[in-house]
Amino acid sequence: SEALRNLLLGKIRDVPDHPKPGVLFKDITPLLADPEAFTALTDALAGLAEERGATKVVGLEARGFILAAPVAVRAGIGFVPVRKAGKLPGATLSQAYELEYGGAEIEIHAEDLDPGDRVLVIDDVLATGGTAEAALRLIRRAGAQVAGVAVLMELGFLPGRTRLEAELGGAPLDVLITV
Ligand code: PRP
Ligand code: MG
Repeated sequence: SEALRNLLLGKIRDVPDHPKPGVLFKDITPLLADPEAFTALTDALAGLAEERGATKVVGLEARGFILAAPVAVRAGIGFVPVRKAGKLPGATLSQAYELEYGGAEIEIHAEDLDPGDRVLVIDDVLATGGTAEAALRLIRRAGAQVAGVAVLMELGFLPGRTRLEAELGGAPLDVLITV
């Protein structure tokens, strides 16, 4: 709703020139520090998880963890972390992907997903879409179904939505705020 969007938007702080000159950083820490806004965000994402029939929530390290974990508890479903390479101790699937400058790699414990699972990926920001696209690949490679991707913010001036399309395979992308 418009009221929810305004509540959330009012708690996102613009930080110019972070982490480097020319970048306008969208800081969600004021939102996290505000119980009304954080609860409203959690409830909205948990509602989407239920609507999409998700049986697991995947959170993307690091900021996606903060949003996804309370959603899993609220929705009564499991939480599975996708971590930056080298952090998970068990048998992992790894996915490398390209960023604006250089590359990155993320991992998942494949055994945390079952073939029947429907997985909702949650993150704070969709920018180029590289991180979310790699996470979707991991979920499919683990043999689970993609229930969708849900993000707090989409950077509308970047082509992340287009980049995600193929890997979504018709599953929905839910965006609470476009900036
Ligand atoms: C940021 C953001 C998203 C991702 C979006 O994470 O939290 O996860 O970038 O960018 P993309 O759509 O271009 O992939 P970042 O890797 O900066 O790290 P953090 O979450 O650990 O702070
Ligand atoms: Mg992130």
